[in-house]
Amino acid sequence: MDALESKKYEAFVVGGCVRDSMMGKQPSDWDICTSAKPEQVKAALCDHRIIETGIKHGTVTVLTDDGSYEVTTYRTESSYSDHRHPDKVEFTPYLLADLARRDFTVNAMAYNKRLGLVDWFGGKKDLQAKVIKCVGDPNERFKEDALRILRALRFAATYGFTIDEETYIAARSNKALLQKISAERISSELTKLLCGKYAYAVLKNYSEIVTEVLPELKPCIGFEQNSLYHDCDVYEHIIRSVAVYDGHWPVIKWALLLHDIGKPACYTEDETGGHFRGHELIGAEMAKSILERLRFDNESKAAVVQLVREHNRHIEPNRASVQKLMSELGEEQTRRLLKVRRADQTAHAEGTRHLYKVDRLEAIVNGIIKDEACFQIKDLDIDGHDLMVLGIPEGPQIGTIMKKLLNDVIFGEAENRKSALLERAKEYLRRN
Ligand code: CTP
Repeated sequence: MDALESKKYEAFVVGGCVRDSMMGKQPSDWDICTSAKPEQVKAALCDHRIIETGIKHGTVTVLTDDGSYEVTTYRTESSYSDHRHPDKVEFTPYLLADLARRDFTVNAMAYNKRLGLVDWFGGKKDLQAKVIKCVGDPNERFKEDALRILRALRFAATYGFTIDEETYIAARSNKALLQKISAERISSELTKLLCGKYAYAVLKNYSEIVTEVLPELKPCIGFEQNSLYHDCDVYEHIIRSVAVYDGHWPVIKWALLLHDIGKPACYTEDETGGHFRGHELIGAEMAKSILERLRFDNESKAAVVQLVREHNRHIEPNRASVQKLMSELGEEQTRRLLKVRRADQTAHAEGTRHLYKVDRLEAIVNGIIKDEACFQIKDLDIDGHDLMVLGIPEGPQIGTIMKKLLNDVIFGEAENRKSALLERAKEYLRRN
């Protein structure tokens, strides 16, 4: 910034880094805006390495010894026919014009050490009042980029802010524009929202917008459960469970959001009350199609779907059953499943939360890991080559026999010792 100012250009840090600094948070990155055009930025900073990240839109990345900084020329944006990208970006010499095109007042402040804080839209006041409020006309801001509707919810969920009434009314009336936004941008905002410390209030108060991108949740709202285990409807139970898990595994947040999504589709009632038999399987199918639509990566999608499908699985509280579960799911996913179960149980009606069962299962998992007990094929004292030496050809038969041997070790029917396992493998061969 000094280098730019020494050439008589203006330079300010701007946007999220100013907001976060004023909240006492460490910004994830520092964005700089300047009156200099990209070529002028390059010339003023010629003794640094510069990457032309988005030069058409005025952005270059400057690499310095203490990190990289995005430097963007002041710009205004013309109309947004697709509600995502400006049709045209124009450079402007005025900081005011650059700040006026930004989404929220708390994101439209700039700072430099010469002039201090530049806050033309009341961002500091809104930050203190914990309010998300659009700069200027909220309808225009949301029509320009409809993702801002979800950004408003995300900031509310991460910082514990409320959304200004006029801004929320505009968000609601423009929510259909979210259909034009790419799935990747939506899922990234939703994940940040779910992981926010204040996600419960946002999911509760702004459910109309959440269900615009996740319409499958709509039938859960107000769906009474008629069960001793629950004192609330399906949606309330879901969002309580999301709030209860305070760790940082997004996969768990998603699994909790979707764990009971299949309930309304399979409700039955008899003299004992309401039942949701098979909701885990229906829910897993629904979760799969939701996460496909949101373009989740395959690994996270598979993990979430499995957690939804298995969230009610009966697990005997003994070592062999838990080892068996771990052989199927792996250690990490087993631990996640127990976290899902803990949150799910905690969101049940008081007096029906079986947390001691989760404690017991977690203690068993810890014991298995501590004792380095066998729960995966790779823990066996033999490998595929040892079976090939016995004359089993390379191919699926090796895998089948290894699985049987693992089962035998888990259930105490064979010792995890090479000679014992080879004997047992020979027996399987003889039987075939
Ligand atoms: N911005 C905007 N409209 C958007 C996205 C961003 O007006 N749809 C502006 C805001 O001024 C924002 C700045 O661009 O502060 C930088 O955006 P970005 O880096 O995406 O978000 P941050 O606000 O920095 O927040 P975070 O880093 O926490 O995502």
